[in-house]
Amino acid sequence: MKVFVTRIIPEVGLNKMLDAGLEVVQWQEKRNLTPQELIEACKQSDALLSAGGKIDADFLKECNHLKVIALHSVGFDSVDVAEATRLKIPIGNTPGVLSKSTADTAFLLMLSVARKAFFQHKRIEKEEWSFFEPTANLGVELQGRTIGIYGLGKIGYEMARSCIAMFDMKVIYHNRHPNLDAEKELNAVKVSFEELLVKSDVLSVHVPLGEETKGIFDRSVFSRMKPSSIFINTARGGVHNEEDLIWALENGVIWGAGLDVTNPEPMQADNPLLNMPTVAILPHIGSATVETRNAMSLRAAENIIAGLKGERLPYPVNPEVFDT
Ligand code: DGY
Repeated sequence: MKVFVTRIIPEVGLNKMLDAGLEVVQWQEKRNLTPQELIEACKQSDALLSAGGKIDADFLKECNHLKVIALHSVGFDSVDVAEATRLKIPIGNTPGVLSKSTADTAFLLMLSVARKAFFQHKRIEKEEWSFFEPTANLGVELQGRTIGIYGLGKIGYEMARSCIAMFDMKVIYHNRHPNLDAEKELNAVKVSFEELLVKSDVLSVHVPLGEETKGIFDRSVFSRMKPSSIFINTARGGVHNEEDLIWALENGVIWGAGLDVTNPEPMQADNPLLNMPTVAILPHIGSATVETRNAMSLRAAENIIAGLKGERLPYPVNPEVFDT
């Protein structure tokens, strides 16, 4: 059985598939495959391990012979899951293992924005570290402030936990369903979306990208947040409207923003956000630790191996394909 992998992935995952007797072909070039190249590669394979790129209806129509598609990510907004399910192709992802590293990234951004850390670093590079000015470029403190979590699942939980441990922050959250563990263990309080906007000192986004969340942070939503607030997004860039975010920051509608995900990605080097003192931007590195990426590659490999055996995936996105 042959597996096509769209990127070079950590060796532990690769070796797991080789040890299971699979033939593995990895795309070696440092560029995205074109849709046609992906189709051609997959036509000669039984399974796809995708670490980037769109799996849309056109692709699925051409490659409906695939026995499994394993994502090297927890997010699955790159896949037309409804179409894959209709074609009975199991899709797998890598839940759980990147919660801490992604939450750490959200925390890193929050603190970096609060202390203007990326901007201060740039000042040194620009030889602007001159005489001491007691009132210049001051940040703000986070002790006892309110962290609002938009989407309190595993990643949001870890972010909230860190905010309590470090700064004794109060936790409010907005979810479709209550997170009873977070309410019990973190004293998190479920609020309406409106209350989340109005009450959060820091608002951290941890929802998946979908019809309900696409572009939800726009001018009107930023306008309802506190002028002193910090917006953090480590989920998907599509959740915020970037022009509206620039407008909100330039006009003092909110105070700062930290992004690990941008809209679009990659962000262009001349984006005005990169030069704002109260902004910190990272190039989508939420899961980029050795430990997390190893664990992700193992989960993806486990999904491939199970799928090729015709078994239920250990980490399925569309478990309903196994039900009939
Ligand atoms: C994920 O797994 O969805 C992260 O965003 C890394 O891509």
